Amino acid sequence: MTLKASDVSVRFAGVNAIDHVSVALDQGEILGLIGPNGAGKTTMVNVLSGFQKPAGGAVSIFGDDAGGRPADWFSCNGVVRTFQAVRLFKGMTVSENVEVGFSTLGIGRAQARRRAAQLLDRMGLASRADQLSGTLNYGDERRVGIARALALAPKFLLLDEPAAGMNIAEAEALGTLIRSVRDDFGCGILVIEHNMRLVMNTCERLHVMSSGRTIAAGTPSEVAGNAEFKKAYLGSEAA
Ligand SMILES: Nc1ncnc2c1ncn2[C@@H]1O[C@H](COP(=O)(O)OP(=O)(O)O)[C@@H](O)[C@H]1O
Ligand SMILES: [Mg+2]
Repeated sequence: MTLKASDVSVRFAGVNAIDHVSVALDQGEILGLIGPNGAGKTTMVNVLSGFQKPAGGAVSIFGDDAGGRPADWFSCNGVVRTFQAVRLFKGMTVSENVEVGFSTLGIGRAQARRRAAQLLDRMGLASRADQLSGTLNYGDERRVGIARALALAPKFLLLDEPAAGMNIAEAEALGTLIRSVRDDFGCGILVIEHNMRLVMNTCERLHVMSSGRTIAAGTPSEVAGNAEFKKAYLGSEAA
């Protein structure tokens, strides 16, 4: 029961953004995709959600080949992603932003509003429901982005730097939230994140990329002991 990229490559004008990388996300697990800026993490999420066609390799959902499918085919098949820069409708309220997710599923207005309220409560945003989303701080904006993604009932949820702009306490709370979302919704969650404390406390498996390649993969403790990982993260002397 997997969302899978197998031996995928992506090139941009001579740059190997991704060079023969395989990543698989199971339902019910939390996978951290980490690595320095420019490693190819966002490009991999784009590939896994149909926003980027790979030049080589294959993508599949539950074993069905997704090659050549558009992004909305991915979302109809349960793959929902958030963006590094949150794309909320700033002139709409927080609740309306989440209701949009429900209405794309054909759910009527009154029910969409009720279910949006439940999700916002779940994300600790009940008091923000009627606020214009353009007035939110970074942390709240990102949680609304996640609430909107959850309205689409994802089987696989891909989060691109959800803790960016959050302070330490907010990032810690986000880690707890990600775990409880996984427990309640049963979806697989892939999270791109730089905050190593959040990554180590939240993820069950890590995939480390650098310069478009996989440099380490495994449990957080396996990866923490990996020489390539230490070199990339702590400098060559620590390896
Ligand atoms: N649309 C694009 N056009 C050209 N180059 C791109 C594009 N998207 C990403 N890249 C390049 O691909 C590499 C990987 O980028 P990205 O996946 O955004 O890395 P990360 O998310 O790990 O920081 C970088 O060298 C980046 O400059
Ligand atoms: Mg990125």
